[in-house]
Amino acid sequence: MILLGIETSCDETAAAVLEIKGKKYKILSNIVSSQIEIHRKYGGIVPEVAARKHVEAIVPVVKESLEKALISQKEIDLVAVTRGPGLITSLFVGVEAAKTLAFAWQKPLIGVNHLAGHLYGSLLNTESRQQKADSRNLREIKFPALCLIVSGGHTELVLLKSYQDYKIIGQTLDDAAGEAFDKTAKLLGLNYPGGPEISRLAKKGNPKAFDFPRPMINSNNFDFSFSGLKTSVLYKIKDLSTLRPAACGASEDGRLKIKDLKVMQDMAASVEQAIVDVLVEKTIRAAEKFKIKTIMLGGGVSANEKLRKTMSDRAANVLLPDVRFSTDNGVVIALAGYYRIANHKLRIKDNWKKIEVDPNLSL
Ligand code: KG4
Ligand code: ZN
Repeated sequence: MILLGIETSCDETAAAVLEIKGKKYKILSNIVSSQIEIHRKYGGIVPEVAARKHVEAIVPVVKESLEKALISQKEIDLVAVTRGPGLITSLFVGVEAAKTLAFAWQKPLIGVNHLAGHLYGSLLNTESRQQKADSRNLREIKFPALCLIVSGGHTELVLLKSYQDYKIIGQTLDDAAGEAFDKTAKLLGLNYPGGPEISRLAKKGNPKAFDFPRPMINSNNFDFSFSGLKTSVLYKIKDLSTLRPAACGASEDGRLKIKDLKVMQDMAASVEQAIVDVLVEKTIRAAEKFKIKTIMLGGGVSANEKLRKTMSDRAANVLLPDVRFSTDNGVVIALAGYYRIANHKLRIKDNWKKIEVDPNLSL
């Protein structure tokens, strides 16, 4: 089966063509047009700008995905598109484009949950050297399995009984893990998105230099809370400006800023450690409770090296997504589309009429 996956839920316009035959898959193309540079100057995503950029990019991106895949639209069996959760105006661009293609090409269309893309992303076994780069086996999950989805807008622990039977057992009560990285990075005067910036600085810092809170690490459930972290970072910066004025200064907009590189590195390492400690500890505890046989990671924050290493050190059988498939892309959306239809037959020719955007869609 050949799938076209389309993704526009946030700040990446993406399309990919994925072929799946039994357990084998081939990524025929994977085109991602990122808006990060545009949003960077605003310090975060501006929804209206994002939607406009998706409108500009969607046709060239889909066209390129077909050209790179060296196939014509006739060979596509199914179009899969993210219909939520995400920014409503951005989602509309991808969904309307996908509906138009499904109507014009007379192909079935399936609406996919963005988080399901992150859920299955680690099954793409791109790191294995034993298999040819162009045709690989999907990794196998041993059930019950647990997936930690950590992205800019979500932090969810998902318990899987089978490929299609899963439920959320814990989630964030306020900020998502990616949001915690992004917001603390902003306080430190770093660029958007903050996760990669913090992680880069953290490599040379001391993770024990500052004692940041690990909210809910010992709570009796699998929920998370990260909003206190940014307040704590803000107070630490204020304390520092009194205790070590030479290490601090003011930015152009009058806000406090850390000038000393070593202090920045230590603070980044300590923030990263606090977030990773909570994520790993709660995942491991859930894994013990539910006698989990496979732990999976997904979403933008799963690109974080410290998280990947700590989780792999603490548990056996951890499936890590290739970093390309941690962040948003069309391949994982096509894969999620595949798993959605794997159980039921494709009786859909005209079903594009029924696909609706839902910015708050839950898994
Ligand atoms: O999944 P994603 O690309 O988009 C959403 O669905 O939100 O995730 C984006 C998030 C951002 O918050 C970004 O800071 C974070 O993933 N991120 C990272 C890293 N790379 C991306 N966080 C920590 N370490 C990284 N290396
Ligand atoms: Zn995402």
